[in-house]
Amino acid sequence: MNIPKQIEEQAAQLRETLNEHNYYYYVLDAPRLPDSEYDRLMRELQTLEAQYPKLMTADSPTQRVGAAPLSAFAEVVHARPMLSLNNAFEADELDDFDKRVRERLEVEKIEYVAELKLDGLAVSLRYENGLLVKAATRGDGSRGEDVTQNVKTIEAIPLRLRGEDYPPVLEVRGEVFMPKSGFEKLNRQQTAKGEKTFANPRNAAAGSLRQLDSRITARRPLTFLSYAVGVVEGAELPGSHYEILQRLQVWGFPISVQMLVVQGVQGCLEYYQDILTQREALPFEIDGVVYKVNRLDQQETLGFVSRAPRWAIAHKFPAQEALTQLLDIDVQVGRTGALTPVARLAPINVGGVTVTNATLHNQDEIDRKDVRVGDTVIVRRAGDVIPEVVRVLPEKRPENSQPFVLPEHCPVCGSDVTRVEDEAVARCTGGLFCPAQRKEALQHFASRRAMEIEGLGEKRVEQLIADELVENLADIYTLSHEQWAGLEGMGKKSADKMMKAIEKSKSTTLARFLYALGIREVGESTARLLAQQFGDLEKLMSATRRELKKIPDIGPVAAKSIVTFFQQPHNREVIQRLQDLGLHWPQNESPVATAQTLSGKTFVLTGTLNGMTRDDAKARLQALGAKVSNSVSKKTDYVVAGEKAGSKLEKARTLGINVIDEAGLLGLLQNAPAN
Ligand code: IVH
Repeated sequence: MNIPKQIEEQAAQLRETLNEHNYYYYVLDAPRLPDSEYDRLMRELQTLEAQYPKLMTADSPTQRVGAAPLSAFAEVVHARPMLSLNNAFEADELDDFDKRVRERLEVEKIEYVAELKLDGLAVSLRYENGLLVKAATRGDGSRGEDVTQNVKTIEAIPLRLRGEDYPPVLEVRGEVFMPKSGFEKLNRQQTAKGEKTFANPRNAAAGSLRQLDSRITARRPLTFLSYAVGVVEGAELPGSHYEILQRLQVWGFPISVQMLVVQGVQGCLEYYQDILTQREALPFEIDGVVYKVNRLDQQETLGFVSRAPRWAIAHKFPAQEALTQLLDIDVQVGRTGALTPVARLAPINVGGVTVTNATLHNQDEIDRKDVRVGDTVIVRRAGDVIPEVVRVLPEKRPENSQPFVLPEHCPVCGSDVTRVEDEAVARCTGGLFCPAQRKEALQHFASRRAMEIEGLGEKRVEQLIADELVENLADIYTLSHEQWAGLEGMGKKSADKMMKAIEKSKSTTLARFLYALGIREVGESTARLLAQQFGDLEKLMSATRRELKKIPDIGPVAAKSIVTFFQQPHNREVIQRLQDLGLHWPQNESPVATAQTLSGKTFVLTGTLNGMTRDDAKARLQALGAKVSNSVSKKTDYVVAGEKAGSKLEKARTLGINVIDEAGLLGLLQNAPAN
């Protein structure tokens, strides 16, 4: 079938626009098209190619969906071996390295390029006349596997080079890896499908790239950064590593924004410290930094020993994983009654912090990892999150060990433990009867963003429960001055203050009250949403799941939890008592649905706001349909910068994102009722 010229041109135009978009998105980190428009153009091209299969070119962006499965990977012999790096762990090892380099080169000071050591897997990409023809894994350094089909599905990797001045043969080397967010999402999906999860992003990246069915790879969130070249034919490249990477970027390859030219060991160490502080905030995992001698003539003079260059070294970060003994498994009961198994560990230093506890999440996780008391386990710690047990070493398991099963009765109150179908969490059914839940529930109820009873913190709540002064939330409002003053550490004066704070809390808002009740799945912004939509507690208490699900942002789980909560007679009783004791809020705060004027917009809040808390601002933005995210990316529409805004503001400026101040925010919020 002859293809009409106009169709041919249309397809070429679409390919170009889509490839350009990819370049702006992945390489320059500054997208020019909204995602929806990109998807629309992609579909348009797919339709044309389906109609006229001859239109399909090797570099068509539609090729990224994967191809028919292979029975095995073909072997690729690397024309230039793919080297590995020697490691330094301490500053003096780095000193030794630098000294050796300087002595061999007979120079005083070396200029290095400092880069991130990405935690993924190395690939070599071969381009002939600008077209990606072969992609291979590192393998043993001499031979790797042909993963061309898989690599073509990774959008950050160009299928065709940009511009005209690229060498006719060019091998680009770099790391394929999985960002942290993609890794977490993938594991959630795996769990939902009942499939095995990956221990870390590196394994996930390797497992995803080495799929015989590249259509699976296509669905995995892999990305790529380049850091070296291999074979180059038919053209001269610049004389320094730094300049070469700049050229790679022009030709269409993403390079790390953290790459930096530094002078001598001092410069390297400063870079190391700087990156160490940024590590947690990076969107992907790194296990150290790499220093490379910048000048290529110097690199050549230095050469390499066995499989590692003399001109580069990896400076590794302290490990975030360590081996230790699992001494016992405790079961904790949270405010919502959730039972969490916690591993008690023989104290172990993990990346500079002593770890004695690690979460085991839930029964499913324990079963999947088959964790038992007495096991030797690998513990992992990342940032502020609770350390977790990655896996056990079965070969070190003591004889007679038993699988661990969560108790059938609550370890705190003895009530039955239930597990809702489809939910991983086991829960105590004791409700406010369970002291564990009572304490957490009271604490939450009194907290600043709920009823805001100043002075009623963890310690006081513990005392109230220990002295058996309160059984449920309403009891707080019946305590006498005498009873307060009688608490250890409280006198007449502090009892006065407490009574005042309690009295003051009686005048509240519906949103705060709903949040204070501690209904599962109802956080601050959902509470606000419910208050806005219903305006009236009675109406909300009799709402059906169907009515609730109609509200944007309220899913089936939240809807079910809200209905169940209000169905419980003891909850209705407490609510009634609270109202009888004088708790009140303005009626019909805002019964009308708020216009979703900010729907589809993503905000990031940073710095200190004067007129409202950040949580307030967040809830109000969400009520108008906006998304509020914690980190700035190219998808952010607005950054709201309060006082003393720091790195997020800087990032917004580099990415060219709209920055507004508190006054600007207030302007946008005009539509949102304050409460
Ligand atoms: S350069 C000439 N640069 O580390 C040395 N490697 O141990 C070739 N890696 O297989 C590698 N980040 O997978 C280089 N910025 C970086 C890197 C990096 C991670 C990995 C790569 C390589 C291994 C070497």
